[in-house]
Amino acid sequence: MSERVTVPTIKSVKVKNGSKPIVMITAYDFPTAQIADKAGVDIILVGDSLANVVLGYDDTLKVKTSEIAYHVKAVKNAKPQCLLVADMPWLSYHLGPNKSVKNASKLIRAGASAVKLEGGEERTDAIASILGAEIPVMGHLGLTPQSVNAFGGFKVQGKSSQQREKILRDAHHLSDLGCFSIVLEGIPADLAQTITDEIPIPTIGIGAGKHCDGQVLVFHDVTGFKFSNSAKFVKTFSDLSGVALEAVEQYKKEVVDGTFPSESNSYH
Ligand code: KIV
Repeated sequence: MSERVTVPTIKSVKVKNGSKPIVMITAYDFPTAQIADKAGVDIILVGDSLANVVLGYDDTLKVKTSEIAYHVKAVKNAKPQCLLVADMPWLSYHLGPNKSVKNASKLIRAGASAVKLEGGEERTDAIASILGAEIPVMGHLGLTPQSVNAFGGFKVQGKSSQQREKILRDAHHLSDLGCFSIVLEGIPADLAQTITDEIPIPTIGIGAGKHCDGQVLVFHDVTGFKFSNSAKFVKTFSDLSGVALEAVEQYKKEVVDGTFPSESNSYH
């Protein structure tokens, strides 16, 4: 998609009807947003994974709405053509409809066109109130990282028939409520396929197999811009941290041995 991507454009995508899959990636600042948009992705997500990959926390629970909004502004400064979605962090939509709308509005005022939040039926009031303020909502089901303590760790969800039924029911519920798409994270591929077949809005998978209407990954995982190992569902397409490390090591060497700055780097 080279034209400006909007919520209705995304909502209409269904691969089974002949659409191309949605490509979504996270970005958190001006340069990563420029790269993502130049590459032609459909959606940039300023995810609460900001907590792990940029701020160095060990889970996503520590990041606040004001921090996400700060990074949305930086991404927006890249003037992306793709759709800009902001994650609602933990506790920003759990304390009643008014607070949920107020927090969502901070992300929209920072430059996002839609928000994403985690959970199914239990988030009905938050989702309905945010939609009621004309703010489009992307759902997120399965291994939702903000529930890490309730799940007892980062565990694939939807393995038992009870969990399966709940995730499928929740997917229908979010679609009926008016969400424009749903991220499916860390669930068996066949469950993601069933959901994708049954609901009219697009599914965007991460660790949910190939049968979704799109895929999402974290920028730092895709580009290898980190030193830690990645989860099984990640594919890393370059070694940015290796390249950056070599560059900084070379810079250090040249300063120490007097090669840099050279005459061509100097004013006369
Ligand atoms: O915060 C995030 O990066 C996400 C995606 C990985 C779906 O929620």
